Amino acid sequence: MRLANNPAFTVTGGKLSMGGRSVEDVMAMVKPPFFVLLPDRARENRDTFTSIAQESFPGSRCYYSVKTSMQPALLRAIAGASMGAQVVSAREFELARAAGFSPQDIIVDGIYHDATTFDLVARHDDLLFVESWERNVRFLDAACSQHGKSARVGLRFRFPRKENRLGFSPRDRPAMDSLRETLSSCKNVEPCMLACHPGSQVQDPKAYAVACQVLLDAQEALERGNGSLFQEPMLIDLGGGFPEPEMATPAFLRAVMAAIRDAISANHDPGRYILCFEPGRYIAGDAGALVASLLHVFNDDGGNRWALLDIGMDVLTRFANSHYRFFSIEHPDASHGTPISFQGRVPTEQDVFGKGVHFVKEAIPGEHVLLLNCGAYSTTFSMRFSFPHPPTVVIDGGCCTVEPTLLP
Ligand SMILES: Cc1ncc(COP(=O)(O)O)c(C=O)c1O
Repeated sequence: MRLANNPAFTVTGGKLSMGGRSVEDVMAMVKPPFFVLLPDRARENRDTFTSIAQESFPGSRCYYSVKTSMQPALLRAIAGASMGAQVVSAREFELARAAGFSPQDIIVDGIYHDATTFDLVARHDDLLFVESWERNVRFLDAACSQHGKSARVGLRFRFPRKENRLGFSPRDRPAMDSLRETLSSCKNVEPCMLACHPGSQVQDPKAYAVACQVLLDAQEALERGNGSLFQEPMLIDLGGGFPEPEMATPAFLRAVMAAIRDAISANHDPGRYILCFEPGRYIAGDAGALVASLLHVFNDDGGNRWALLDIGMDVLTRFANSHYRFFSIEHPDASHGTPISFQGRVPTEQDVFGKGVHFVKEAIPGEHVLLLNCGAYSTTFSMRFSFPHPPTVVIDGGCCTVEPTLLP
C-alpha cells in the first residue's frame, strides 16, 4: 500500500518503508524529529515533468526553482541535462553550481538584485538574468559594460490578479514605451525571454494559458512598430506553481500543456517559441517528509482533540502552503479517518499544523507521526526559534546518511 499515492512511502505487513528502508532502521540511526529526503523521488518527478513538457513542446526547458529547497543532496540528484536551475540570489547560484548545474543552465531571477547578484557577470559568461524592474536592466547593462561582457535578459510580467504588483504589466503603455527604449539603448543586454509565473498550487490548467497570453501581449506591446526586439526563437517562461504530484497527475500536466498550446496557436506559430518552466514544489514537495514525536494529547475548550508535536512553525513554515498528510508510524495501515489538530512546539496559539486533519483514532503519546509533502519551502522559508533544527536523513539507493539541514 502507498501512502498518499507516493511510491516512496509504502506499507507492507503493517511496516512502513521510506525510499526502500524500513522506518524502524532509520529511527534506530537517528532520533526524531528529522527530515527525510528521497533523491530518487525527486529524480522521478523531474523525469515525469520534463518528459511531459517535451512531448508537447520538443526543445522546451525546465529550471528547478532552488528557493523551494536547496539541500545539496536534492540539488545534486536533479542537476543534469534535462533540468537547469532558477535562482534568486548569489548564494543559490553558488549552491546550484556546486551541485553540478552549469552557468548556461541557470536563470538568475528574483525581485531583489544587489551588488553580489550583478557581480556574477564578472565571473561567468553569457548569463541569463530575469529582471522585474526597468532600472535593474540598466544596472545589468552597466555591470556587463564594466566587465566587457554581455548577458541575456528576460523580463518578468505579473500574472493578472487584482492584488499582484511584482513584474511589468503589458497594459501599462507608458511603462512599456519606457522599457522598450531602455532595451533598445542597453547594448550589453540581449533580450531573449518573457516570463510570467501564475502562482502557487495552481489547480486550473487554464491559468497557464492566461500567463502565456500575457507574454504574447507583452511581446506585441514591446515590438509594436519596432521590428523584432527579442532573439529568435524567443523563450516563453511560464514559471512554476504546480501542486505536489499527488494532485498534479500526468493528466493534469498534459492538460496544462494543451492549454498553453491552444493559447499560442490561436494567433502564433508555436515553432517560434521555446517554452520554459520553473517547477519547484512539483519536484521537491513529495521527496521530503518529516518524522516527529507525538508528545501529548489534549482537548481545547470546544472539546476538539489536539496533539502536541516536537516540531513547529520554526521547522515547517505555514507560509509553505503545502498539502501536508499525517500518518501514524506505528499504525500505518490503520484507518486514518478521525479528525485531530496538531499543535506545534513554538509557544503560541498560532503554531498549528492543519486543523481537523485525518489521523488514526488512537493518538498515543510517545508514538510518532510521519508528515508527507514537507520537501517544499520548509527549510528555505522557515523561521528560527530557540530549538535545534532537525537534521536531514537522506535515503538514496538504499543508503541512509544523516546530514545537517541546510538553512538559509
Ligand atoms: C518566479 C517563480 N518561479 C517558480 C516558482 C516555483 O513555484 P512552485 O514551487 O510553486 O512550482 C516560484 C515560486 O514562488 C516563482 O515565484
